[in-house]
Amino acid sequence: CVTSATARAYPNIALVKYWGKADEKLIVPVAGSLSMTLDDFPTTTTVTLTDGGDTFRLNEVDHDGTSADRVTVFLDLVRSLAVDAGLDTAHLSARVVSTNEGPTAAGMASSASGFAALAVAAASAYGLDLDTRELSRLARRGSGSASRSLIDRFAVWHAGDDESSYAEAVSAPDMAMVAVPVATGEKAVSSRQGMIATAETSPFYPAWITSTQETLTEMIAACERGDVTTIGELTENHAIRMHALIASCRPSIRYLNPTSIAVFDEIAAMRQEGVEAYATADAGPNVFALTRPELAHIVADRLVGFTKDNEAKILMPGQGAHLIDG
Ligand code: DP6
Repeated sequence: CVTSATARAYPNIALVKYWGKADEKLIVPVAGSLSMTLDDFPTTTTVTLTDGGDTFRLNEVDHDGTSADRVTVFLDLVRSLAVDAGLDTAHLSARVVSTNEGPTAAGMASSASGFAALAVAAASAYGLDLDTRELSRLARRGSGSASRSLIDRFAVWHAGDDESSYAEAVSAPDMAMVAVPVATGEKAVSSRQGMIATAETSPFYPAWITSTQETLTEMIAACERGDVTTIGELTENHAIRMHALIASCRPSIRYLNPTSIAVFDEIAAMRQEGVEAYATADAGPNVFALTRPELAHIVADRLVGFTKDNEAKILMPGQGAHLIDG
């Protein structure tokens, strides 16, 4: 009999950013973070157990090299959990087939949706019985931000240790995220390498850690009381702080390009005119505008001219990673 499972997960955009690891191998962050799970650009992944060696196919292309190595390292972790659970699937390898609907083009962290979907599909295929918290901890080992894509709508990912570092839901008002993709292409420095460089060379790193903890506390309180203005102000300020921190590395690292900066400026100008929107960006040039749902179309129309494909997509809070079959 063939053991197979299919899961779907969406990317998430952090309002309080994760940048820095306390443990490189276990992927435990130096501070907590908070994100919105999106309702589009899913990754759908099928894991089928075989005895023929691990394989990884993404968007109809067979992969080997770094991305396949990361998948195999992750599957080894799933198999070690299967050994602990006394499951006879533990010796089997896996065929992983994944489809990514547009996040790469839109410049979104496909590693978050990718490892969240893989965690859910692989755990099910190998017969592990894990709850959402355990699945979040598992996804974290593939990519830190993937821990948050397990959660519906808004997630807080706790720092701590291997046991206590997982994401869970936080209540927050409906908000829209307008994606403003300004460039394509691989980023020059991966998040993983950028975080190491920051820890090793930025004099601001200790202040980043303590201030992020403070911002997270303020952000959780603002979310719980439904205070969109404070959520937005904290989001934009924390993103700018992260990019300033990254710029302070030796040698300096810069993810934003001139168009990204122009989008940040345009969003600030809109606020001056009374259209409430706030900018954020991850480890790349693409910008996201956080706004009230009723303003999303106005914000998207205003920013579409900056996008590379003349499309500024409106995203709403979405579903956490889940099985769709098997
Ligand atoms: C800037 O989760 O991709 O998007 O744990 O090394 O895989 P690894 O890093 P990753 O880093 C995401 C960084 C960020 C901020 C965020 O999503 O919180």
